[in-house]
Amino acid sequence: MELAGRRIWVVGASSGIGAALARELCKRGANVAVSARRADALREVAGEWMTAVPCDITDPDQVKKAAEAVAAELGGIDIAVLSAGYWAQMGSDFDVESFNRHLAVNLTGMANCLGELIPRMKAQKAGMIVGISSVAGYRGLPGSEAYGATKAAQINLLESLRVRLRPDGIDVLTVCPGFVETEMTEQNSFPMPFIVSAEEAGRAIADGIANRSARIVFPWQMSLLMRLAKVVPDRLWSIALTPRS
Ligand SMILES: NC(=O)c1ccc[n+]([C@@H]2O[C@H](COP(=O)([O-])OP(=O)(O)OC[C@H]3O[C@@H](n4cnc5c(N)ncnc54)[C@H](OP(=O)(O)O)[C@@H]3O)[C@@H](O)[C@H]2O)c1
Repeated sequence: MELAGRRIWVVGASSGIGAALARELCKRGANVAVSARRADALREVAGEWMTAVPCDITDPDQVKKAAEAVAAELGGIDIAVLSAGYWAQMGSDFDVESFNRHLAVNLTGMANCLGELIPRMKAQKAGMIVGISSVAGYRGLPGSEAYGATKAAQINLLESLRVRLRPDGIDVLTVCPGFVETEMTEQNSFPMPFIVSAEEAGRAIADGIANRSARIVFPWQMSLLMRLAKVVPDRLWSIALTPRS
């Protein structure tokens, strides 16, 4: 698919993967609008080439107003990339507040965006929704109880929608990155194998969108590792990941 001239809304683009992807899409000739909460950071990403529309995706009213503003500014929305996300490592005590924050941003926030996008795309009988999940959604990992659960739910949600929306001419793509150097990962003190730059992630996702790949997983080493992890029996998985005392 030709990306030049496509009207693309990237949500969660004030930093990291969303910002790098927005820049990459712009470079490939797309008309891009970017959203996130931090208006200053967003304006810096947007420069003079993109439209910046600040919005908190946990608030459905803000999402509605932002979708209307983006559609008015770009003349419609062909592709929406939902990249906004939240991650905090779960400590040894189960933190319900942290769990609910993950749900609010990663799941309810994504649902708020979908609630605005699906009727619009159904009306135009065309469109593409690209959800940024994670390989962390493939298997349960200690410390990732909240984040991983929301990422697994996103994978399932996006797959259901891919089937449901096919007759309406709407493509749904699931992106599962491995580790990427962003504000989200700079707090991590554990090893992050095969980590890639946000720019590499942006290029991989833009290529996947152009190819209409149902699932975009990168880098290939992490893709292979997590595909193997998926077939490890449950008992063996828990024994292998239990910390040695
Ligand atoms: N980095 C990785 O290793 C990695 C790996 C796999 C998947 N991912 C996923 O990739 C996506 C992007 O993460 P990143 O690594 O690029 O992290 P990041 O640099 O922290 O970017 C997160 C983006 O989400 C926005 N955001 C957060 N809460 C929001 C809200 N309530 N409303 C609107 N926007 C909100 C942030 O902007 P504001 O703070 O300005 O709102 C920011 O633009 C996430 O879904 C993440 O789970 C990341």
